[in-house]
Amino acid sequence: MPRSPMVVRTVPALRRALDGLRARKADIALVPTMGALHDGHVSLVRLAKRRAQKVVVSIFVNPTQFAPTEDFGSYPRTWKSDVARLAAEKVDLIWNPDVKAMYPEGFATRIVPEGPAIAGLEDRFRPHFFGGVATVVGKLFTQCRPDVAIFGEKDFQQLRVVTQMARDLDLGVKVIGSRTVRERDGLAMSSRNVYLAPEQRQAAPELYRAMKLSAARLRAGEPVDAVMVAGAEAITKAGFTLDYFEVRHAETLAPIALLEDGPMRMLLAAKIGTTRLIDNIAV
Ligand code: PAF
Repeated sequence: MPRSPMVVRTVPALRRALDGLRARKADIALVPTMGALHDGHVSLVRLAKRRAQKVVVSIFVNPTQFAPTEDFGSYPRTWKSDVARLAAEKVDLIWNPDVKAMYPEGFATRIVPEGPAIAGLEDRFRPHFFGGVATVVGKLFTQCRPDVAIFGEKDFQQLRVVTQMARDLDLGVKVIGSRTVRERDGLAMSSRNVYLAPEQRQAAPELYRAMKLSAARLRAGEPVDAVMVAGAEAITKAGFTLDYFEVRHAETLAPIALLEDGPMRMLLAAKIGTTRLIDNIAV
C-alpha cells in the first residue's frame, strides 16, 4: 500500500513542513481543492508533478464561497478516499485546515476581485462566489508560497480570476490551467455530479454535445446568434434550465461577436432539478 502523504492542519505546522521541502531546494506546486476528489483532480495532481518537484494538495471546503442557500453543509466530504487517492499519486503534503485555522476569530479581510470576476457569467448567479474564492486562494498562496498552482479549466472563469489576482498582487505564483477531464459520454467530471439522479445523469452529456455541435457550427462560419439560440434550445429540450450559454473572449471574458476576434470560449451554466452544472470548451 502506498505511504500516506503528511497531513498538516495548522499554519505553523504547514510552515515547518514547507521549510523542510524547501530546505531540499525543491520547487513546489499547489493543487487547491475542496476534496471529494475524482479523476479530474488526479489529472491536476499529475500535471503538478510534471511542473514541480514537490506537490502540496489543499483540501478545504471554503464556506465563504457558498451562499447561505447553497450546498456547503451537504457538499460531499470523502476524506478517506481522498487521502488514498493522493497517496497513490505520491503527493508530498496535504494542507487540511479547519474553518477556524483558515478564518480565525476576528478575521476581517477580503479580496474583492474585479475584471474577469465581474464578467457577467458565474458572478451574475453567484455574486458571493469570486470574493470567497479569491480570498481563500489568496490565503492558500501566501500560506504555501508555491512556485506554480494548478486549476482545472472546467471552472474557466475561476481560472481567469485567480490568474489575474496572482498577477495583480505580485504573488509570485505561476497559475497553470489543466484541461477538463470528462466521463466517457462527455460529462465534465465534478464533485457535484454525485447529486444527479439516474435520469438526470443520463441527460447530462447533452451539455457537452450541444457545445461541441455549436462550436463546430461557429467554426464553419455560421452566425453566432443563430448558433447560440439553437444550442440553448437543445440544452433546454434535454431538461435543463440555462443560467447562461455564451461565447466570450477566452482571456478577458469580454463578450465577443466574431470568431476572428478570439480566441473564443463557449461557457455555460445550467440546472437540472436542483443540481447546477457548469462547463466550457474552446471554439
Ligand atoms: O475549484 C475549487 O475546488 C475551489 O473553488 C477552490 C479553488 C479550491 C477554492 O476553494
